[in-house]
Formats: sequence, structure tokens, C-alpha cells
Amino acid sequence: MNKDIGKQQSVSVIGLGAMGSGIARTLLAAGCEVSVWNRSRAKVDELVSQGAIACDSPLDAIQANTHVVVCLTDYSAWQGIIDANDLTDCFDGRCIIQLTTGTIDTVQAHAAFIEGHGGRIADGAVMCYPRDLGTETGSLLMAGPADVLKECDPILRLLAPTWTNLGDDIRKPTILSRALMVDVGMSLIGIVNGVAIAQAGGIPLDVFMQHTENVGAIIPDEKIRLIEAIRDGNTEETQASINAWGEGQKAVRSIAQSLGTNLVFQDAVKMVFEEAERRGLAKKDLAALAEVFAPGS
Ligand SMILES: NC(=O)c1ccc[n+]([C@@H]2O[C@H](COP(=O)([O-])OP(=O)(O)OC[C@H]3O[C@@H](n4cnc5c(N)ncnc54)[C@H](OP(=O)(O)O)[C@@H]3O)[C@@H](O)[C@H]2O)c1
Repeated sequence: MNKDIGKQQSVSVIGLGAMGSGIARTLLAAGCEVSVWNRSRAKVDELVSQGAIACDSPLDAIQANTHVVVCLTDYSAWQGIIDANDLTDCFDGRCIIQLTTGTIDTVQAHAAFIEGHGGRIADGAVMCYPRDLGTETGSLLMAGPADVLKECDPILRLLAPTWTNLGDDIRKPTILSRALMVDVGMSLIGIVNGVAIAQAGGIPLDVFMQHTENVGAIIPDEKIRLIEAIRDGNTEETQASINAWGEGQKAVRSIAQSLGTNLVFQDAVKMVFEEAERRGLAKKDLAALAEVFAPGS
């Protein structure tokens, strides 16, 4: 990255885990002046060896710069830091770029706390690995007041050149990032579960891997088709009904049971299909499962 791009920026980073360190390194590489604080000092020292300025306390980090990126395990870690260091009067005039993964309640309460103490808040979800920051594959979902996001834009661009502005509803990055994680998480858990079944049945993993690639090739198009079908309310037309999928999943459960693998994942899937059947959705497309998952359903 061109070191001149971030020359005008000075930023504090609180939390130097895998992601916080990645953020600090990316900002340093862009030419920013970066002040850092972390609970464990070794990670501060490592960043200092790369050009960062050490802060001895979170208060020092907040006072060092107008813009402060916070990236910790969760909001309770941040609340613990606030409480232990009596951080209430230091947010006046500061802009917190909160990139810690939160829940709807913690994100809203935190935004109210910062704004109630004279600060500005942009809340976000990082949707990439640390190694992707500062590259075209860097991905950040952000929300906050329009003027705050505008003010943060030069910093956010250094982390993710095409960061996404989700508007002023502070809950949106949390909601969208978690909704996307259902897909990624279930798919990856499914693969691990599939490996267990294949291994228990004596299928070599290289054979499993080769066929995973073939079967998985339909997934990107199928995801889009499902989203469009839900959007358009088109759940009647189908290549494979909920009943067909449900029978297939019953067969998986039976095979898993025969092979003695743990059934906890299949039991969750079974509940979804049983619920769909109870609602009379058996003949519809898989997209009709949206009715099972809808609020209040
Ligand atoms: N890593 C990724 O690929 C990735 C991707 C997307 C989003 N994220 C999000 O980024 C955030 C940070 O993730 P990470 O991967 O950097 O996690 P991590 O490597 O486990 O680092 C956690 C950070 O939180 C600090 N921390 C934890 N509990 C604390 C406490 N009670 N008091 C003070 N500091 C505390 C740790 O300090 P110590 O060093 O002292 O333990 C460390 O700085 C998370 O919300 C995560 O969901 C990460």
C-alpha cells in the first residue's frame, strides 16, 4: 500500500488480538500514526517494533487521538475495560469506531453510552480475515450517523477500500453479519459432520474431498435462486420439494445412526423438516422454509 495515503491520519487501536493487530498493521502500512493499547503488553511491544506508539492505559489511547478503533473479543471485554479504568469522561469529542462483534442489545447500549458521554460512534462488523484488510477483499459493514461515517471514511477506506455503509441504524452490521454467518457456519459445520460420516463409513477423505467440490459447485447459483424465490414469493415451482429434501435428510440421519456418529446435527435438521411438514409445506420448494423461520412463526 502507498504509505502516503494514510499520512494525514492518526488513529488509536484498543485490542491487539488477531484482528486488532491486523487493523493496526494495516493502518501503519498506509502511513498512519497509530497508538495502541492491549491488555497483554507483549502485543503492544510487537506493534511498537513495527512503528506504532505504545499507550500505557486505555485512557492514554483514547486521549491520544480523536479516532479510536476498538476491536476486542466481545462487548463484555470492552465494558470490563471501561469499568476497571473508570472511562466515562474521556469520550467527549472522541469518535469510536467499534469493530467488536456484538449483539443487538450490547451494540445499542454502547452507542447510547458513547453518545451520552459526548462521543461519536460508528459501529461495524469485520467480514474478512486480518490478512485481507487493506486489500480489495477487505470487507467492513458499518452503520452510524451519516456525518460520523463520512468523518471515518478515510480510515475505513484504508481497512476496506469498498466498505459498506448500512445507514444510521446502528444494529444493522450486527444483524447482517450474523445472518451471513448462519450460512457460513452451518455450511462449515455440515462439512465437518459429512467428514465424520464418510470416515465412519470407510470413505477415504481424498475421495470425499473430490466429490465435495462437484456437489458444492451448484451452491452459489442455488443460494441466489433461493433468495430470489423468497423475495418473489415463488415457492410453488421446484426441482426438489421440501419433502424430497426432508426424506434425503432422514436417510442421512439413518446412515449416521448405523455408523454410530453423533446425531446432534441431524436432529436439529430433522426438527426443521418436521416443522415444515406440520405447516403443510411438504410439496413446496425449499424456499418455503422461510415460513418456518419467520418472526412469530
Ligand atoms: N480474527 C478474525 O478473522 C475475525 C474476523 C471477523 C471479525 N472478528 C472479530 O474481531 C474481534 C476480535 O477478534 P480477534 O480475532 O482479534 O480475537 P482475539 O485474537 O482472541 O483477540 C481478542 C482481543 O480481546 C482482548 N480481550 C479479551 N478479553 C479481554 C478482557 N476481559 N479485557 C481486556 N481485553 C480483553 C484480548 O486481549 P489479550 O491479548 O490481552 O488477550 C485481545 O486483544 C471479535 O469481535 C471477532 O468476532 C475477527
